[in-house]
Amino acid sequence: MASVVEVGLVDPLDWTTSGIMPPWPEDHSDPDRRPPLFRRAFSLPSAPVKARLYVTAHGLYEMELNGSRVGAEALAPGWSVYSDRLQHATYDVTEMLVEGDNAIGSWMGDGWWRGRYGFHGGTLNIYGTDIALLAQLEVKCADGSKIVIGTDKHWKASPSPILRSSLYVGEEFDNDAMPGPWSSAEFDDMGWAPVKIAQFLTGTIVPQEGPPVRCTEELVPVSTERRDDGSILVDFGQNFAGRLHLRAPSGVGRELEVRHAEVLQDGELYVRTLRDAISIDRYLGSEGSIDWEPRFTIHGFRYAEISGYTGDLSDLSILGRVYHSDMRRTGWLTTSNESLNRLHENVVWSMKSNFVSIPTDCPQRDERLGWTGDIQVFAPTASYLFDVDGFLSGWLKDVALEQNRFGTVPWYVPVIPGAPQWTPIVPGAVWGDVAVLTPWTLFERYGDSGVLRQQYQSARDWVDQVARLAGPSRLWDTGRQLGDWLDPAAPADQPAMALTDPYLVATAYFAWSSRRLSLIAETLGKLDDARYYRSLADEVREAFLTRWSTGDGRLVNPTQTGYALAIVFDLVRDEAARRAGAELAALVTERGNRIGVGFAGVNLISDALTMTGHHEEAFALLLEEQTPSWLSMVAKGATTIWERWDSLLDDGTVNPGQMTSFNHYALGSVADWMHRTIGGIAPTEAGYRSVRVAPIPAGGLTGARADFDSPYGRITSDWKVDDTTFHLDVVVPVGCSGVVDLPDGSSREVEHGSHHFTASLIGSSTQREAS
Ligand code: BGC
Repeated sequence: MASVVEVGLVDPLDWTTSGIMPPWPEDHSDPDRRPPLFRRAFSLPSAPVKARLYVTAHGLYEMELNGSRVGAEALAPGWSVYSDRLQHATYDVTEMLVEGDNAIGSWMGDGWWRGRYGFHGGTLNIYGTDIALLAQLEVKCADGSKIVIGTDKHWKASPSPILRSSLYVGEEFDNDAMPGPWSSAEFDDMGWAPVKIAQFLTGTIVPQEGPPVRCTEELVPVSTERRDDGSILVDFGQNFAGRLHLRAPSGVGRELEVRHAEVLQDGELYVRTLRDAISIDRYLGSEGSIDWEPRFTIHGFRYAEISGYTGDLSDLSILGRVYHSDMRRTGWLTTSNESLNRLHENVVWSMKSNFVSIPTDCPQRDERLGWTGDIQVFAPTASYLFDVDGFLSGWLKDVALEQNRFGTVPWYVPVIPGAPQWTPIVPGAVWGDVAVLTPWTLFERYGDSGVLRQQYQSARDWVDQVARLAGPSRLWDTGRQLGDWLDPAAPADQPAMALTDPYLVATAYFAWSSRRLSLIAETLGKLDDARYYRSLADEVREAFLTRWSTGDGRLVNPTQTGYALAIVFDLVRDEAARRAGAELAALVTERGNRIGVGFAGVNLISDALTMTGHHEEAFALLLEEQTPSWLSMVAKGATTIWERWDSLLDDGTVNPGQMTSFNHYALGSVADWMHRTIGGIAPTEAGYRSVRVAPIPAGGLTGARADFDSPYGRITSDWKVDDTTFHLDVVVPVGCSGVVDLPDGSSREVEHGSHHFTASLIGSSTQREAS
C-alpha cells in the first residue's frame, strides 16, 4: 500500500507533461455524462529505488498502479478556487512498482469541476466542460536511470463502469462493464482509444495544504430490517457523511438501489430536506459477487434503504464508511453529565461531517458550500477538537482570492453561481468577518503568525470596506444583512427576521473586527495600522453605544444576542458591563432558560454570562431541555448538531422550513465555551504558550476532564467535586506555563508538570498539595 508523503512539503517541481481527457464527443448539457477510465502501460529497466507520483485533475480521480489503489484519498483533489489554486497530491509509490512491465490508471468523476452543483437544481460545468487528469510519475531506478511517465498521448481511455457520478445525485456503477484488471500490466487495452491532450494551467497548481479526505471509520448498522416490499431499512445509529460499502455473494440481485436520509418519518426515509440532492446510488451487475462502494459521491445520512436485493439478509454485509478531511484529533471533553457528553459528541460529528475538503454548512442537501459565517463562529471550537491549521489557512487563501474577485468577502467560498438572493454578492456582517476573526483564531490557537501575514491584506480590505459603508456615522446600518440568522423567534421561512436589529449585529461586528485587526497589526509590527484600527474600534464602539445603549449598559433593543455582542465584543465595560450581564441573565431566566439566539449570538452568549459572573444562568441555559435549547436536540435523539434549534419539532415531525438540516455545526459553537469553562483550558498567549486553567464547577456537574494536544504537548484539566471540596489535577507540557484559577477565587501560577489542587467550595482556602 502506498503511503502519502507529508502534504504541503513536496512540489514536483516542474510539470513537464500535459493533461489528458477522453477522446469521444460528449453532450455537455447532459448531467449524466459517463466518465472515462485512463491507463498506460510502461516498463522500467530495473527495480525502482524511489518513485513519486504527483497528481491532480479537473474533476475527481482515484489512481491505481499495477492493480492496486494508490493512497486512500477520496474526492481528490478536493475543492478550492480551481482557477487560482488547484491542489495536487504527492504519493510515494516506490513499493508499488516493479522492474519490467507496469501499468498506471485512473478512475475519474465529475465532482465540483463539472458536476451539477448549487441551489435550485444547480449549475453544470461550473469550472469547465471536460474532466481531465494530470499525473507525473517520477521514478529513479537501481541502474541510475530516471524515468518520467506523464499524462501524454501514450495513455488510453475507455468508458468507465461508473455510468454517472454526482456529488449530490449519487453514483451508478455497472459491474458488467468492468473491463477486468484494467490497471495491471498484463491487461490488453487494444480496444481502448488514445486519449486527447488537455491543457492545465500549471502555474495555478499547488501542493495540497490540508489533510486529504479519507475514510476514517466504519460504522456497523445498529439495525437492519427487511420490510414487506423486500427493501432493507438500515440504521447506523449515527448521522454522518460518507457512503455505504456493500458485500454479498453472487446471484442476489441485478440492480441494487441505495437511498439515504438523515431522519425517518412514519418509518420511511424523509428526503424532502435534501431538496435537489437526491442521494441515490445504484449498482448493476448480472453475475459475480458484490464488493462495491461508490467512489465520487458522498451523502449526509443516518438511515439507508437498499432495494433490489433478493438474497438472504445474513449474506449481505453493510458498512457505513465515514469520510472527511483526515485531521488529527487534538481535543476531548467529558463531564459527569451524559447529556452534555452527547451534545459534545454531536458537535464532533457535525464537525467531521462538514470538514470535507472545505468547511461546509451541511453534508446532505443541495448546498454543501463554504458558508463563511458558519465557520467564523465555529472555528474556535474546531481548533480545539482537531488540528485545522492547514485546512483552514488553505481555505482562507481562497477567501482572499474570491474577495479580490468579487470586491467583498463572499457569503460562501469557493463562489459558485448563486440563487438570485446571493447575486450580486454584497458585504454582510458575521459572514464577511471571517476574513479577520478566523485568521486571528488560528494564530491564537496555533501560534503561527504566518497566517496573519498571509491574510493581512484580506482582513484590512474587509474592515476598510465596512468603514466606507458605515461612513462618518461609524454605524453599519445600510444594506442587506443576515444578522442573527435563525433566531428561534424568526418565522420558519424567514430566518433573517430575528429579534435583534441586524444593524446592531453589523455594527458590533464592525467594532470587534476593527479591534481584532488592530491586534493583528500589532502582532505583525505594523504599529501605525494598529493605532489606526484601535481608534477606529473606539469610534465604532462610541457610535454603537450612542445608537443602541441607554448609557447604563442596557440596550434599546434588549435581546440575548444584543447583550452577548455588547459584552463579549467589549462594547460595554465596567459598571455598564455588569448591568448588561444582569439584563442578559434576566432575559435568560424570563425565557425559562431557553435560548433566544441565532448564528450571531450562539458562540457568545455563554461567555457573556460567565464573563459577568452569571455562572448559574450560563449552565441553566446549557442544561435546559425544553425547545429551543442545546439539550432539546439531544433529548429528541440528535446525533449531530441541527441547523435549526427545532429541526425536529416537539411533536416529532420535521420542521417544514426549506432549510432544515440535521447536520450543521454553527449552533455547536458553544463547545468552545465548554472547553474553556467546563474543561477549563484557555490560551492566554498565542499557541498555548501560556494557559489559563479555570474550570467552573456549576450546573450540578460533579466533574469534568479536558485533554488538549497543544503545539507544546498535552494539557489536561481534570476536576471533581465532593460535598464541600473541589479537586483539580492539571498537567502542563514543557514550554508552557499558566495560571490556575480555583472556584474559591484564588489563583496559582504553574510551570510545566503535574499539579494537584484542592479548594473548599464553602470557604476560601486553597491548598496546593503536590507539584
Ligand atoms: C446555509 C447556512 C448559511 C446560510 C446563509 C444556508 O442555506 O445552510 O448555514 O450560513 O444559508 O444564509
